[in-house]
Amino acid sequence: GLGVQVARQAPPAPQAGPELQVRRLVVAAAVVDDLGAPRRLLAARRSRPAALAGRWELPGGKAEPGESPEQALHRELREELGVRVQLGAELPAADPAGWPLAPTLVMRVWWARLVDGDPRPLEDHDELRWLGADAWESVDWLAGDLPVVRALLAAR
Ligand code: CDP
Repeated sequence: GLGVQVARQAPPAPQAGPELQVRRLVVAAAVVDDLGAPRRLLAARRSRPAALAGRWELPGGKAEPGESPEQALHRELREELGVRVQLGAELPAADPAGWPLAPTLVMRVWWARLVDGDPRPLEDHDELRWLGADAWESVDWLAGDLPVVRALLAAR
């Protein structure tokens, strides 16, 4: 019967064809300051591309081939904000590959604290904001970042 036929159909092998879409890794940081208790979270407002401009994100970007995720995150924070950070624990995602952003993008997120530099919007952002303890959800986060921010709130 039909049920048997369906059950016997092998799932397509992931490496089978050109339709496979490799997901690019995006790394981002939940930069918090330890000075106030409870802590403030650094949010960055995107200035580009137009479709994302004005929405807020955790600073970060795509890992390049050959970079570890942590190396990529240090590089992105240096380029985008002009800071050096110390990375803490990774925020665990339901999928160990990370937080889904899009069919082709998955994001991994680390807690971080500043060790050098005052964050400035050097690239891709037009505003930075330290969100106070009760205000972590007060900005218009990118859709993919909102569940991450909620998990950060639950974990802090
Ligand atoms: O600068 P780079 O091309 O390395 O990466 P990006 O443009 O900062 O990030 C790549 C994509 O990841 C963006 O188009 C965003 O859609 C997404 N992203 C996100 O959703 N949330 C973040 N916190 C960072 C990036």
